[in-house]
Amino acid sequence: MINIAIDGYAGSGKGELSKGLAKKLNLKHLDTGAILRAMGLYFARLNIEDFTQAIIDKYIKTFEVKVVFEGDKQITLLNREDVSKEIRSEKMGGLASKLAIYPEAMEKMNNISREFAENFDCVIDGRNITSEVLPNADVKFFLDASVECRANRRLQDDYNRGVQTTYAEVLESLKKRDYRDTHREFSRMIVTHDSIVVDNTNMTIAQTIEHCYNLAVEKLKELGKI
Ligand code: DC
Repeated sequence: MINIAIDGYAGSGKGELSKGLAKKLNLKHLDTGAILRAMGLYFARLNIEDFTQAIIDKYIKTFEVKVVFEGDKQITLLNREDVSKEIRSEKMGGLASKLAIYPEAMEKMNNISREFAENFDCVIDGRNITSEVLPNADVKFFLDASVECRANRRLQDDYNRGVQTTYAEVLESLKKRDYRDTHREFSRMIVTHDSIVVDNTNMTIAQTIEHCYNLAVEKLKELGKI
């Protein structure tokens, strides 16, 4: 099996990098943030946007999130409904990040991810992949970029999807998420000792993919996996 693990901050380009590496190395790609975002959407539809342990305990078993694939494309299902587009907003990212402090939510996501990695040669991206989901991954990347750069990227994504936001709102949301994702008690995002750190503030996504592809090939050859 080939497993590549990628963690990094919101807007660091993990998703694009994962897709690019998966394509070049003929691997499957799983976006784990989408699983938590789908959970966030479930709660948003119940008008619940702030969580407590009691709320999590009451609702965590009342919905199902699944991931299926149409070719390379990940389809994220919430109670069998395709919510792949609806979960892409920065608001759903914020709700996912708030849910991620609860081990019960992370366990759902971790189980789906580990099962995926057992069955496919794959790239998986998220926040706790290099540390918790795939601690024995063949190659690990930690992706970073300045928060201002990431806010501009997210603003452009929102604009492309027709979502009205301002730079200040996106910047504020990213800063809150960065803090939450790196300071929570369980499953917090860390840079593991064996991760390759890539800061792509001054790189295009194509350059990031090429750079990481070369490093991954080198490592996989060393391991005799390709
Ligand atoms: O990667 P993303 O922006 O889609 O993730 C949304 C939020 O979900 C992120 O701010 C933190 C949380 N998350 C996590 O804690 N662990 C993961 N493996 C993936 C996402």
